[in-house]
Amino acid sequence: MPVRLKVLAAAAFVGLLMAPTALMLSAHSDGDPDGDPIEGRKIFLRDNCYSCHGARAEGNMCPNLRNDPPDESDVEHAVREGKETGMPPFPDLTDRDVRDLAAYFETLGTANEPTFTHWWEPGVPTR
Ligand code: HEC
Repeated sequence: MPVRLKVLAAAAFVGLLMAPTALMLSAHSDGDPDGDPIEGRKIFLRDNCYSCHGARAEGNMCPNLRNDPPDESDVEHAVREGKETGMPPFPDLTDRDVRDLAAYFETLGTANEPTFTHWWEPGVPTR
């Protein structure tokens, strides 16, 4: 095989090896189905979840969500149906919002927990 073809073949082979890696790396970027904790924190503040659950979801008049963070189905139920014990339903929240909220609750108490309060600032915050 001429040298140039060999180089091409080698490049194609490396490309084949790299493609799945690139796909795996991109799976957790923006728009992934796992939800975004930053967006979740914004919704938590914007929709006044914090007024009952506390600014850090530490519980205030209502359950502390930090000790035993709710998973996606807990959030889905609470947000869609509300709770007899005093939580109203939030019919305007989308499935995406529910995933973002669940992703946010997952970070509670971890180093990745976003703690910003100025959710309306464009571009910032990132934490
Ligand atoms: C008016 C007060 C109030 C507001 C506002 C409120 N909640 Fe609640 N929430 C409650 C109460 C009370 C409960 C506990 C119900 C129980 O345990 O019986 C609860 C329970 C929950 C649970 C269930 C916890 C579990 O372990 O199942 C989740 C999740 C939750 N809230 C999320 C939210 C989110 C997200 C928002 C904002 C979109 C929000 N809440 C807004 C009062 C509130």
